[in-house]
Amino acid sequence: MTQSAFSRADGALQVEGVSAASLADQFGTPLYVYSRSALTDAYKAYADACSGRRATIHVAVKANSNLAVLNVFARLGAGFDIVSSGELARVLAAGGKAENTVFSGVGKTAAEMREALDAGVKCFNVESIPELHALNEVARAAGKQAPVSLRVNPDVDAKTHPYISTGLKSNKFGVAFADARATYAQAAAMSNLDVIGIDCHIGSQITEVSPYLDAVDKLLDLVEQIEADGTNIHHVDVGGGLGITYDDETPPAIGEFVRAVLAHIDERGHGHREVYFEPGRSLVGNAGVLLTRVEYLKPGEEKNFAIVDAGMNDLARPAMYQAFHRMEAVEKRATKAQLYDVVGPVCESGDWLGKDRELAIEQGDLIAIFSAGAYGFVMSSNYNTRPRAAEVMVDRERARRVREREEVKQLFAGESIFPD
Ligand code: LLP
Repeated sequence: MTQSAFSRADGALQVEGVSAASLADQFGTPLYVYSRSALTDAYKAYADACSGRRATIHVAVKANSNLAVLNVFARLGAGFDIVSSGELARVLAAGGKAENTVFSGVGKTAAEMREALDAGVKCFNVESIPELHALNEVARAAGKQAPVSLRVNPDVDAKTHPYISTGLKSNKFGVAFADARATYAQAAAMSNLDVIGIDCHIGSQITEVSPYLDAVDKLLDLVEQIEADGTNIHHVDVGGGLGITYDDETPPAIGEFVRAVLAHIDERGHGHREVYFEPGRSLVGNAGVLLTRVEYLKPGEEKNFAIVDAGMNDLARPAMYQAFHRMEAVEKRATKAQLYDVVGPVCESGDWLGKDRELAIEQGDLIAIFSAGAYGFVMSSNYNTRPRAAEVMVDRERARRVREREEVKQLFAGESIFPD
């Protein structure tokens, strides 16, 4: 990730050389700002580590689905990982291709399956036996063969936050490891399914390589059994999940992680298989900041509050997962730094963005909330009838609004009053 994407000039924060304060003035706050070079560098770190190998990167659309962001990746030749037909529509609108898109998710509807089949997605990552039956039925009605991989739950501990750990027995995701071989046999017997791969996703914000290697080992054990049963496995999808530095985490560099996984697969004698990656956070997380303005400083008996114009509806991660996002004043002030709880305007005590943050700020100042490019805007809501923020992309001193700020009237445009 380029450190230079976010830098300081005369103490003031810049994004690719553009003053963050000028962006806030021009586009208003709260404002999501993405650095195109940071997106590109993160993608290239994956792509470079994959070069010379049959390995493909499928950008997890859920982490950031803005069309401009997806388009940056599509131009770089990325594939995509989607979890709804809405995300498929975004991929296609952003210049991505269905044939490079894998469809994940535990609850795909028949209508979504049909749309994805008609569009020609590359693979359905199926998570249960009932879903296999449903997909087989949809494909039969369409007169097609659906390409399928099974998401297997390898039951490894990803050592991450329980809400974003997905590969344990206790999670709702995937086919249980113990049932996987038999489930593959069932899938292989379904006339409108074409079993082509195996898949897993063990969690998110994983800052070590070892859980991946454990998961890969379990998948490859299974692949050997499934092939002995007569079904060929073309690709191994290792999912997404590489963590980023929010605070003091020290995840491996992207290239190091990719090379370690590929080397492990090669060492196990599976180097001939295509490998899929589905990264989200590590591509976009540190490429985005959320700019917010201080409305009020409110000293309290126990705490000082900085009440800002972004709330839990704009950035849900702190409220949902007690997530830490680094914060800095956009412009350096002579004012004395104090400890603040940085909170939003939403009527909930859970509406906080940062606790006990040392900031030198005054009313009207801007705060940059870092590492907000992943699961930031996409998880935002209209709670308290708050229009969602605008999004801007900066590319070498050029800034462009890539999503307009919502207007209040849009928020209830689809509503009506019950007639007398
Ligand atoms: N593939 C699948 C099937 C997934 O479920 C996910 C994320 C990814 C790929 C991408 O994982 P990543 O590389 O971004 O870790 N909202 C939470 C994160 C939820 C992740 C869900 N699955 C957060 O804000 O931390």
